[in-house]
Amino acid sequence: MLTALTRAVSRSLGSCELTWHARQEIDIDLANEQHRQYERSLEDLGVRVISLPEQSEMPDAVFVEDPLIVFDEVAIITRMGVASRRAESESLAEAIAPFRPMRRLRDPATLDGGDVMRIGRDVFVGSSSRTNAEGFRQLKEELEPFGYSVRPVTVRGCLHLKSACCALGNDTILANTAWLDPEPLRNYGIIEVPADEPGAANILRIGNSVIMPACFPQTQKKIRTEGLDIRAVDISELMKAEAAVTCSSVIFRAA
Ligand code: GLY
Repeated sequence: MLTALTRAVSRSLGSCELTWHARQEIDIDLANEQHRQYERSLEDLGVRVISLPEQSEMPDAVFVEDPLIVFDEVAIITRMGVASRRAESESLAEAIAPFRPMRRLRDPATLDGGDVMRIGRDVFVGSSSRTNAEGFRQLKEELEPFGYSVRPVTVRGCLHLKSACCALGNDTILANTAWLDPEPLRNYGIIEVPADEPGAANILRIGNSVIMPACFPQTQKKIRTEGLDIRAVDISELMKAEAAVTCSSVIFRAA
């Protein structure tokens, strides 16, 4: 069964890490409601949601995608690019332990899960302000024995690789190519997001549906022409924390 790990929004979200965004006031009650709606969208699509309790002292802890990456064969506990977030990992390691054998990236590696985009057996890893060459090297070392091809992609102008591109289908990637070097993705069809929706490439495909922010109508229209159904979610408060839709869950197959 498709399963999602999520975590309740921290009441300290307003003190989150920011890299490319200016700080704005965040309405925590609204952020909570938006996150619950996101979880309901997953459930509506048949995903079992395991919602972990809030970590009130860890502002970014709702963004569970960054400390944990789950493949069919193994779970990777990352070593995040900002030290302020590293304490988020332990409870996620406990949560994933019943489902997968676990490996951990080690100092001096840094790597955020938001920099890891898998499409089939290809795993693309963003070279970003959060993920360094040693993070890439250690992840490659863990995954190649399982037959994954692991390749770096230069990211510029945004936080993570998955801010710039996400898998839309088996052979298709939705991307803002102004924010990455598209050369490593050359074997895939690229669908560009409209220039005035630069942040719209972060989407979550579940079955024949795509969960994505409500604020990107032109991109929604493009995706519908691919025959996919759109589940629009309003995540305006979480977006102020430099989030998008993939950040707030880790999705994997479990019995
Ligand atoms: N606010 C999300 C992050 O910077 O990691």
